[in-house]
Amino acid sequence: MPIVIEKLTYTYQSGSVNAFTALKDIDLTIKDGEFVGLIGHTGSGKSTLIQQLNGLMQPTSGRVIVDGYDMSDKKQRAKGRSLVGMVFQYPDYQLFDETVYKDISFGPRNMKLDNDEIDRRVREAMRLVGLDFDEFAEKSPFELSGGEKRRTALAGIIAMYPKYLVLDEPMAGLDPAGRRAVLEMIDGFRSQLGCAVVMVSHSMDDIARSAEKVVVLRDGRIFTCGTPQEIFSLADELYEMGLEPPFAARMASDLRRRGLLLPHGIYTNEALAAALAEYKGGRGNA
Ligand SMILES: Nc1ncnc2c1ncn2[C@@H]1O[C@H](COP(=O)(O)OP(=O)(O)OP(=O)(O)O)[C@@H](O)[C@H]1O
Ligand SMILES: [Mg+2]
Repeated sequence: MPIVIEKLTYTYQSGSVNAFTALKDIDLTIKDGEFVGLIGHTGSGKSTLIQQLNGLMQPTSGRVIVDGYDMSDKKQRAKGRSLVGMVFQYPDYQLFDETVYKDISFGPRNMKLDNDEIDRRVREAMRLVGLDFDEFAEKSPFELSGGEKRRTALAGIIAMYPKYLVLDEPMAGLDPAGRRAVLEMIDGFRSQLGCAVVMVSHSMDDIARSAEKVVVLRDGRIFTCGTPQEIFSLADELYEMGLEPPFAARMASDLRRRGLLLPHGIYTNEALAAALAEYKGGRGNA
């Protein structure tokens, strides 16, 4: 069963003079196992939208249904929330226990799993996020670097085996190698746990690499939604919103302007490399 968002509107400080409607009339479905990328300019409502998915905020109007559970209903919300694992934009705030081990095991312990299963999940989660057990398990989260804190926060969420993994800017502040490592990690536990992923990112390159469906928010509304190929061919619209298309898409359109007959719909580095190799081969043979 999917997550279904129907006619969702959300107003901060509703009813006050400071009321601000951050989401308007959102209709969106997140299917089982799907990788959804959420993009949009700063302040477009991305973080507000994903916080509706685990019931942290409730719609001002409209509905969020997680696997049949209505997130506006208190009882149903608890059930729905247990399916949604959420890693916030600033994961520092998510860590609070004395050791990395205790922090990661917090969620599984709350799920009332037995100790062996908790231990197994903590070790597995640490392996999946690339934290060496012997080195990190007994460390205090406060001794960790930014990247290690992010990994610990992620491990704590995946140890609960969420059906939907929701990530707000999980690669923020990392260098290109770090970004790639985190993305590979997300792909890794998606295939191992079979979860759906909803990922907010400012990086079109990261979204192009992983997402099956891309949702573009603009001023609290869904501007458009489609496959990466469909979305990243809207270069003008993206630029207008202050979003830069992926590197490969920009490069391909630049080369096309210079007269290279490259096919349309290129948005990953791999596709660009393949198209260039074919182009070269084709010309060489002519
Ligand atoms: N607590 C709040 N009270 C009032 N307005 C808020 C509150 N939190 C966010 N907003 C406003 O709601 C809008 C959407 O904010 P949100 O944080 O969801 O955007 P975002 O797309 O995640 O932005 P960013 O890319 O900067 O993270 C913004 O205009 C923001 O100023
Ligand atoms: Mg945000």
